[in-house]
Amino acid sequence: EKGGYDYFMLKEIAEQPKAIADTLLGRFTPEGRLHLDEMRLSDDDLREVDKIIIIACGTSFHVGLIAKYAIEHWTRIPCEVELASEFRYRDPIVDRSTMVIAISQSGETMDTLMALRHAREQKAKVLAICNTNGSTIPRESDAVLYTYAGPEIAVASTKAFLTQIVATYVIALYLAQVRGIKYGDEITAILADLEKTPAAVAKVLESVEPVRQLARELKDAKSVLFIGRHVGYPVALEGALKLKELAYMHAEGFAAGELKHGPIALIEEGLPVFVVVPPKGRDVLHDKMVSNIQEIRARGARTIVLVEEGDHSVDPYADHVIRLPKVPTLLQPLVATVPLQVFSCEMATAKGHDVDQPRNLAKSVTVE
Ligand code: F6R
Repeated sequence: EKGGYDYFMLKEIAEQPKAIADTLLGRFTPEGRLHLDEMRLSDDDLREVDKIIIIACGTSFHVGLIAKYAIEHWTRIPCEVELASEFRYRDPIVDRSTMVIAISQSGETMDTLMALRHAREQKAKVLAICNTNGSTIPRESDAVLYTYAGPEIAVASTKAFLTQIVATYVIALYLAQVRGIKYGDEITAILADLEKTPAAVAKVLESVEPVRQLARELKDAKSVLFIGRHVGYPVALEGALKLKELAYMHAEGFAAGELKHGPIALIEEGLPVFVVVPPKGRDVLHDKMVSNIQEIRARGARTIVLVEEGDHSVDPYADHVIRLPKVPTLLQPLVATVPLQVFSCEMATAKGHDVDQPRNLAKSVTVE
């Protein structure tokens, strides 16, 4: 049932191109209407939305952080992202013009469910992004967009993560369309880019052997840091979370611009630091990141740089380069996360840990 792989996680990492393609399939009708799996919200309801709040936990929360960039950019609707476990305890401002998006692979996460119930009590419109048909969170929502990742067995989320990103983007595009901010041609162009991502992810998967080798080399590292900017920041958080849960290693993700406000004090000789470099098209961000790499390298960090192919500006300061296919900035998380998943999986294996069943963790967390 592991399809020839040693672990479910490896199988699920390999299934990601198909998972993305399946999640995109048939989402827009020929007339350009979004096909949601269960829809109890009209276009008028969607036009009324003046604020979006995304609630989720763990890896799904990182999807929310990424989605915020696309949602605000494409729809111009203010979007907040909140840990589901914090949401209802702060008296959040929610009313009938608020759209709450609950993201959950399992559809059973109690923190997310309780946050969703609180939002509904305040009359918010609740939309679920979920991978499990008929689970509790979609049942209690006004609309559902399923991710078609297929069953995710490994405790650590991989293919669900990528498909959840795709699902939030589809919703953002639809909101932009209904509200008259983006029109057919632009949406078709972005969807065309999205449709190329399965091939891009497949390409990343073909070239991950050096990442495995690197994990084995770094097996005894005491700590690993991850830095990124813009959508690369949540990717850094996700890279760190994967390493904690699978390899039981200390790991942290930072927004690269925050380094100078404190975390740079952590940098010491030999400390591995993964850096997600924004595509070169984003000139300002890209150049700031190159300076960050120089700064940490000068302080002895071992820099592992994820950068788009053709961009050699970082080569002089990189101890290891992981090349990513060229994609638009907002789609970069779909390719940049994959080597980080592979790294954690290999690290866990090298340390002799159970990759599919990390200690102290359960696949679905049904207690608050
Ligand atoms: C990490 C992981 C967890 C889940 C979190 C939310 O790899 O799997 O952080 O993402 O428990 O789970 P769902 O998405 O099922 O609500």
